[in-house]
Amino acid sequence: MTHMYSTKIYSDLDTLLTATADTVSVQAARAIEDHGRFTIALAGGSTPQPLYAMLTREPYVSMIDWSKVYIFFGDERCVPPDDPQSNFAMVYNTLLERVPIPPQQTFRMAGELAPTLAAERYEKAMRTVFGDELPRFDMMLLGMGEDGHTASLFPETAAIYEAKKWVVANFVPKLDTWRITLTLPVLNNAALLLMLVAGASKAETLRAVMQGPPDTDLYPVEALQPTNGQVWWYVDGAAAKHL
Ligand code: 6PG
Repeated sequence: MTHMYSTKIYSDLDTLLTATADTVSVQAARAIEDHGRFTIALAGGSTPQPLYAMLTREPYVSMIDWSKVYIFFGDERCVPPDDPQSNFAMVYNTLLERVPIPPQQTFRMAGELAPTLAAERYEKAMRTVFGDELPRFDMMLLGMGEDGHTASLFPETAAIYEAKKWVVANFVPKLDTWRITLTLPVLNNAALLLMLVAGASKAETLRAVMQGPPDTDLYPVEALQPTNGQVWWYVDGAAAKHL
């Protein structure tokens, strides 16, 4: 069995990121028109960094109604918000400090706290925006690690089995570290999951995910199967070379 994904292959990273910026602006406009706000969860990692910078420049900076944007994070490292490892720090420096998003519409995971406490607090903060129903993000940006993880849902870790909580602390033995991550129930309830995959180092994993037998313990990214939404894969030529 192969997976049913919508996959677009772009010649290089710059083209991929431009397409992503276009998609973000279109989805933002649609969501705001439809229900008055745009909720998005952002990814850490290296791939989306130039995307965040791109969104602060024309034409995107003027196309997006930042006053109606709500920013969340898909995952976080357990470090303070000014640590170079922090996803919040990266997004703050590249995007948030440069666009007029009201600060109360930006929700960071508190990586400086004990991981379980940070996860509980994040879920509470999400409830202030989404209410008590399972959140339905308008869009989530995600990446895929070489080991098939997405957000901080790493292979064979407890978080991939979480069925109830929206946010959990996840210990990752191979990194000997804790992460805070949104869970599959939340990811799979989003309207649109956009997976950004670039670089030759991802090619073999991407082939296994797209064409191999499904194994969500080994490749958690395969567990992205939205109940009432879509997954779009934006892949560059180097990552797509074995497809
Ligand atoms: C993180 C992530 C993570 C990331 C992948 C891909 O905080 O690291 O959110 O899931 O998206 O590891 O990362 P790259 O883009 O750096 O390959």
